Amino acid sequence: MMKLAGYSLAVSFAPISSNVVKSNKRFTVGISHRNRCSYRLFSTHAQKHQLHEKPGVVARYHLPPWFSVAPMMDWTDHHYRTLARLISKHAWLYTEMLAAETIVHQKDNLDRFLAYSPDQHPIVLQIGGSNIENLAKATELANAYCYDEINLNCGCPSPKVAGHGCFGVSLMLNPKFVAEAMSAIAASTNVPVSVKCRIGVDDHDSYNELCDFIYQVSSLSPTKHFIIHSRKALLNGISPAENRSIPPLKYEYFYGLLRDFPDLRFTINGGITSVDEVSAAREAGAHGVMVGRAAYNNPWQILGHVDAAIYGTPSCDLTRRQVLERYLVYGDSVLGKYGHRPTLRDIVKQWSAMFL
Ligand SMILES: Cc1cc2nc3c(=O)[nH]c(=O)nc-3n(C[C@H](O)[C@H](O)[C@H](O)COP(=O)(O)O)c2cc1C
Repeated sequence: MMKLAGYSLAVSFAPISSNVVKSNKRFTVGISHRNRCSYRLFSTHAQKHQLHEKPGVVARYHLPPWFSVAPMMDWTDHHYRTLARLISKHAWLYTEMLAAETIVHQKDNLDRFLAYSPDQHPIVLQIGGSNIENLAKATELANAYCYDEINLNCGCPSPKVAGHGCFGVSLMLNPKFVAEAMSAIAASTNVPVSVKCRIGVDDHDSYNELCDFIYQVSSLSPTKHFIIHSRKALLNGISPAENRSIPPLKYEYFYGLLRDFPDLRFTINGGITSVDEVSAAREAGAHGVMVGRAAYNNPWQILGHVDAAIYGTPSCDLTRRQVLERYLVYGDSVLGKYGHRPTLRDIVKQWSAMFL
């Protein structure tokens, strides 16, 4: 199986896969013949209907990750991603971070954590952890779900995560370990792998230290794509939310990486709140732009413009009302799917943001 370094306009038909590739100017072009992928569906009425029409065939088209929605714990869950995909066909969607240990220990209950509906492609699974064996095993277990990329979290400053040693952003202090972990992850999957990190941690915040991290990870492992949350993390007791606003954004570090590592691909993240800013970052050379809070808090205004402004394709042809009606159909189909979850509250929490 050929490992893809880049992304492409891919059309795959399961169970027999073949990808057709079109060039794009910033992400490497490649051709892949994916393994047979046994989709594990988080099925809804609509999807059952769709699959019934074309038995055994799942079509996948995706353009490169010029725009992506950031992984956000408790936010970018299956429900949010369903809503997001109704609005943008091409935005890449990241899952919430899933600890490798959760995947490994819940191996008999994986659908609950890993299943998603096929229309959520392109979708990236973000995993977290510091045990290489578990990271590799978790990746292997996730293979059956056909994520489009596996991403390792090297940016989370939460004391629950970073405080217990090498996990989340603490991993940035040990680039050799990250390279080893990324090699193990890459060896356990056939899809591209990536790292999401900050620009530094505490006093380890010089541009040279960031370059050293990128250099070691990219030269000692197959990682060629880095998502750079362009502020450092402070592990001195401020909350995760404060860690997303107190350390200043230093986009100059990001653009320095673009200049100094021309063979790698970089996605900029942090503080981007409009599609005009996304376009500006792309015009300045960013291979990809990742938006977090703005895409969650204002999905209609942000995601509603992505397909046309960033991908040059027609925008969503649904009205806001039609999006909400379809989302309602989805909500009805999944309510209580796992015993008492999801609850009505889980499902409707996305709604109010749709009226901004
Ligand atoms: C509620 C919340 C949860 C988050 N959870 C994660 C996570 O699971 N993994 C991760 O890498 N980053 C996480 N982040 C950070 C975002 O992915 C992103 O890097 C950060 O919000 C900066 O981007 P923004 O300014 O566009 O929001 C989280 C952010 C928020 C607001």
